[in-house]
Amino acid sequence: MKKVLIVYWSGTGNTEAMAKRLAQGVSDAGCEAVLKQPGEASAELVKEAAALAFGCPAMGAEVLEENEVEPFIAGLGSGELGAKALGLFGSYDWGDGQWMRDWVDRMKSLGAVVDGEGLIAHLAPDDEALTKCYELGRRLAGKAELNP
Ligand SMILES: Cc1cc2nc3c(=O)[nH]c(=O)nc-3n(C[C@H](O)[C@H](O)[C@H](O)COP(=O)(O)O)c2cc1C
Repeated sequence: MKKVLIVYWSGTGNTEAMAKRLAQGVSDAGCEAVLKQPGEASAELVKEAAALAFGCPAMGAEVLEENEVEPFIAGLGSGELGAKALGLFGSYDWGDGQWMRDWVDRMKSLGAVVDGEGLIAHLAPDDEALTKCYELGRRLAGKAELNP
């Protein structure tokens, strides 16, 4: 079974709810969803996965969480990301999603094939946001199936 690796960080559970719904979409589409925290996700796991999803809320001033997520992302290169499908997601509050636009650009510059514009939810994801997470999971599983 193809693996979709979902690496996420969540301080108050909003991004976690997104990750879990995304994982449901992945498994309903017939792939294995592997959920990890950034500290547990080695470059090897990233390399092995057929598709990827990374989640992090807007933190600091429109940046990624700095203790776990930032070092994890900084440790990745085109070798691990390959030309693999990558979904980015996360929750925010008072901003306008700048952290996500920056993150999408950053991952594209590393060679990742980012799905859409990144999936953002205001605070706790509502039903509509959760449905988008589920659909993203299904889409990533579909792309994983095409990955040799
Ligand atoms: C330290 C800190 C910094 C934050 N910085 C931003 C920010 O720059 N822009 C924004 O839109 N929201 C910001 N937020 C709000 C969080 O992104 C928001 O509460 C989000 O829902 C948290 O997701 P989580 O439950 O997955 O941790 C910040 C929250 C905290 C605690």
